[in-house]
Amino acid sequence: MSVKRIFNVLAAGLLAAPAAAQTVSIPVVTANNSLVLQVDKNKDLHVIFLGRKLSDENEYSLIPRMYKQSSDYTGLLNSPMTPSGSRNLAEPAVTVTHADGNNSLDLKYVRHTSTKVSDDITLTDILLKDPVYDFEVHLFYKSYFREDVVEQWSSIRHKEKGNVILQKYASAGLQLKADSYWLRQYHGDWAQEMQPEEAQLTHGIKTLDTKLGTRANLFQPSVFMISLNKPATEDEGNVLYGALEWSGNFRIDLELDPQDNLRIIAGINNYASPYTLQPNEEFVTPAFLFTFSDKGKGTASRQLHNWAREHKLLDGKGTRLTLLNNWEATYFDFNEEKLKALFSDAKKLGVDLFLLDDGWFGNKYPRNNDRAGLGDWQENRKKLPNGVAALVKEAEGNEVKFGIWLEPEMVNPKSELYEKHPDWVIKQPKREEYYFRNQLVLDLGNPAVQRFVFDIVDSLFIKNPSLAYIKWDCNSVIYNAYSAHLKNQSHFYIEYMRGLYKILEKIRAKYPKVPMMLCSGGGGRVDYAALQYFTEFWPSDNTDPLERIFMQWEYSYFYPAISSSNHVTDWGKQPIKFRTDVAMMGKLGFDIVVSRLEEKDLLYCQEAVKHYQSVKGIIWQGDQYRLSHPRESSVASMLYVNAEKTSGVIFNYLVNNRYKEGSKLPIRLKGLDAGKKYTIREINLYPGTTSTIDANKSYTGEFLMKIGFNPDVNTKRTSVVLVVNEAK
Ligand code: DGJ
Repeated sequence: MSVKRIFNVLAAGLLAAPAAAQTVSIPVVTANNSLVLQVDKNKDLHVIFLGRKLSDENEYSLIPRMYKQSSDYTGLLNSPMTPSGSRNLAEPAVTVTHADGNNSLDLKYVRHTSTKVSDDITLTDILLKDPVYDFEVHLFYKSYFREDVVEQWSSIRHKEKGNVILQKYASAGLQLKADSYWLRQYHGDWAQEMQPEEAQLTHGIKTLDTKLGTRANLFQPSVFMISLNKPATEDEGNVLYGALEWSGNFRIDLELDPQDNLRIIAGINNYASPYTLQPNEEFVTPAFLFTFSDKGKGTASRQLHNWAREHKLLDGKGTRLTLLNNWEATYFDFNEEKLKALFSDAKKLGVDLFLLDDGWFGNKYPRNNDRAGLGDWQENRKKLPNGVAALVKEAEGNEVKFGIWLEPEMVNPKSELYEKHPDWVIKQPKREEYYFRNQLVLDLGNPAVQRFVFDIVDSLFIKNPSLAYIKWDCNSVIYNAYSAHLKNQSHFYIEYMRGLYKILEKIRAKYPKVPMMLCSGGGGRVDYAALQYFTEFWPSDNTDPLERIFMQWEYSYFYPAISSSNHVTDWGKQPIKFRTDVAMMGKLGFDIVVSRLEEKDLLYCQEAVKHYQSVKGIIWQGDQYRLSHPRESSVASMLYVNAEKTSGVIFNYLVNNRYKEGSKLPIRLKGLDAGKKYTIREINLYPGTTSTIDANKSYTGEFLMKIGFNPDVNTKRTSVVLVVNEAK
């Protein structure tokens, strides 16, 4: 059947391809791209194309013969789910030990279906079976046509006479063909999240992985980019973005194979995790997502933003609350009186919500520092004699909503929870405990612990129905992985994550839209599986605005601005204007002592909050364009434009404070309508200063995009925020 016919049938709804066909093509198509799989006469399935789609779909089948590469020796090198133990010689995607102890697997195509789930989404399901063992794998491809994103996962099942051990169980296998491959990957640590490295891949396997269990991204997140032929720039080049939707251990193998193709195998990390699969039990892997652009990194990131807001991030098209947080203002040192004063500060500032951070709980072991009390979620009677309810009421009396911090997955050994339920704690029974920030992790694989964690959140809402926000923290990694509940310790890491998702599922079933921030001792945990339950994430405890420009920049490739919680704090040496402007580039919050602000600084913040109300819609829902890179220039410049191309906002910063540095050249805008005329006006002016920008002049979109505009950034104007509006 020609690819064209397949497309026609697809449009009609459902397609079931006959197993008897000689060669079958399976296209996974989006607006601009396609992934084409092909079944050969031996029923082996191959990835034959991934990239910008061809106009004539019939030509996909001509692709393989255009390559005169060395032999692949196995006929499996471009398999989307490479089995091991038969004739495969490369990194496998799936490795099993059958019920009879045999380690070999072969996966042959049986049939596939493509179902239109909506006018945007198509789900393709390909069934592969072992010809010898009663063992099967379904490959799923969920394509989001408009957004150019594909999610890919697998489901594994068998009917053997006994259990099968899954030694490796990837979500996805892809193959790219190019002259060379350039990987942009990320590494980090506390307060140093999302540090990029970009380099050409050499032959062999490069693995991106984590084994930390919780806050899995502390050293390395699963997000990455692969540029083909040469490093893609913002507006040019072929680039694929990938990420695993899993908040636990992941593993992504990038194998430059003997034929010079790049194989990508992504999934849960099988480290310490061989999985025992009973007959008829289904093992579903998490989704791996990818998007491809032949117009550089900017387009790829906008595709991902659109997809996230439309389909993944909780309430992605909704609104968000500005807030005042007390963490850095008080740390653990507060009481009801102090908090009451902060509520009126929040009101003074003009934000929507007050967020009470760590330290409000624990009585036998009061949470007055990070060494005690975690797990005992009862209000500390000394600090809060009238409980959280009185705080909610008092905040609301000040016309601000109230939110609260939790770290429900963790426990201090010095806590009543630990004393009552030592078996709920992850630790090796025969080994000494080892702590991360003086705490241990609860065993979320245990249903009793899942109930406990759900109840923490549930009872807060039952007692305080108008509670408006949760900050969900997670500071510890998992040491000494062992569950007193689980029979099979090899399932430990997987059951932890399943437990976490079950809890979050239950919370969201009862409280579908209450905003929750995904925090992890900074940014140790953000991925698109978690973001289905959270409205925003905390990128880092490092809020030095200069650092944040760089960090937020890298996060912005993968996550839309609406999901990034940015707070103004006392980190860094920059003035309040600079700090506030940087925080405005996502979801604005404050974590400062408002009462200690100089009069002009306070006035500045109040005005900035008002300006933010007028531009936040563009920042949250607009298209994001990186105009001038902080790593390549002395000026960082980021533009957000609304869908109608009538309004935008540009943030410009001096990131190199050397003599006479500044915006010497105009910065070219993007994403405007060349035929429209625009005015450019500076906002967020510090009290007593005037703008050097002439707000009365108008420029065509063509001029602004071809010639550019100079924001006049210099050592005296280190932060400049401009609003672009269509001239009426
Ligand atoms: C780590 C978080 O990243 C901080 O914002 C703060 O909530 C502390 N934990 C509280 O312990």
